[in-house]
Amino acid sequence: MGRELAELPRIEWRPEYAEDPVPHFVRGYETVGPLFGLNVPNANPGMVFLIGAEANELVLKDVDTFQWGPVYAPVRKVWGEEALVALDGPPHRSWRKTMQPGVTGGALMRQFGMMREVIAKHLDGWADRAVAVDDALRHMIFEVAARAFCGITDVGLMREFTTEYERMMAAGTDPMVDASFGMDGEAGARVRGMLRPLIASARDRGTQDNVLEVLATTADETGAPLDPEAIAAQVLVLMLAGHETTASVSSFLLWLLGAHPEQSQRVREEIDTLPDETSVGILRRSPYLNDVLMETERLYPPLPIIGRAVSRDVEFAGFTIPAGTFIQLSPAATHRLPELFADPDMFDPDRFAEPRAEHRRHRYALIGFAGGPRVCLGMPFAKVEMGELLVQVYRRFDFTAVNQNPPRIHRGQTAVPGEPIEITFTTRAPSLVA
Ligand code: HEM
Repeated sequence: MGRELAELPRIEWRPEYAEDPVPHFVRGYETVGPLFGLNVPNANPGMVFLIGAEANELVLKDVDTFQWGPVYAPVRKVWGEEALVALDGPPHRSWRKTMQPGVTGGALMRQFGMMREVIAKHLDGWADRAVAVDDALRHMIFEVAARAFCGITDVGLMREFTTEYERMMAAGTDPMVDASFGMDGEAGARVRGMLRPLIASARDRGTQDNVLEVLATTADETGAPLDPEAIAAQVLVLMLAGHETTASVSSFLLWLLGAHPEQSQRVREEIDTLPDETSVGILRRSPYLNDVLMETERLYPPLPIIGRAVSRDVEFAGFTIPAGTFIQLSPAATHRLPELFADPDMFDPDRFAEPRAEHRRHRYALIGFAGGPRVCLGMPFAKVEMGELLVQVYRRFDFTAVNQNPPRIHRGQTAVPGEPIEITFTTRAPSLVA
């Protein structure tokens, strides 16, 4: 038996650290080890942090011991009893298996053409001016998500859906207190109401080109169609999980390249070798592009903290973590540990190339998309979307970050740019454009 959590070392904590807690978590790991609490008066006993690759492996591999359900319990009633993120055990595995074909493999390849079109359309508006890319990318990626997950193609419906979705999100209170966003309010009801006829018509057509269609045409184990309310809940989970995260990482990606000309030139050279018509396979086989994406995931993971509830007593780092404890992992802090990533604050995509291949030092060192059986369901989707974004941006523009200093990060439900990220785009001379 390990020591009790009452004896857990606590690291110094001041309210101002909340602005950027990562260096303090790294210092905590280096001074007291991979398991600690925070030294806050009346500290919430749930503030137990596990930092580092071993901690990540322990937690992310064992989905039966480290559960999601209790973390999301307050929101289950509004996201729906069957919302993927609020489930554990066999019900989770069953829903994940049902949803996976909608965002990976053949479906992703079918959605790729749509992604290319939407990206091209939005980039038309970026030519020869300074663009606040965080805002512009949110719109672009929202449209991709609404089409890929909810099957919304009609222009009028897209406008209405966007307005109601934004209202729904704005109706949410502080996500740390009430993570239901506004889904239980009127806008949430209207958003779900827009999805119902789409589910009915997808059933009639029988096509499977987006997640909503995949779910609408799938039967449960008894052969009955899936409940439309559960389908609506699942596609809204995908909107929430897949929209702001990808928009945030894409914004930091463009800033990194707009502020690092040497690395940017290497991306350009690799993209210049690609055929005119890209594909999911071509993007996956572009080594430097993928190293840049991994380096952005490492420096700017949009979920800096990941929470879990412990379902049985667990031994770790000489302590017993009792059943019922809420624990937190930190991808952002793990990614800044010098024992895993050399000179961790540097933007250095080559760290992922052979022979260094720093991410291979430990399977759970790079966890921007989490890992294990509940690794991000949308990871292939997000990577392909960001890869194609880069291809199109480089083919059309030269670009530079207006502010060469790293943007502030705002840490709410997700870590997003805390200030507009402005990038100046200049159309490439026609002879250079393929
Ligand atoms: C750069 C973009 C993205 C990042 C960095 C990211 C990151 C993550 C992380 C860290 C988790 C695990 C959360 C936890 O363990 O508590 C997660 C889960 C999840 N993500 Fe993503 N995500 C991204 C994009 C997407 C997209 C585009 C989709 C939709 C297709 C998506 C769908 C999901 C879902 C459904 C889960 C829950 C999986 C489950 O319950 O088994 N994500 N994501």
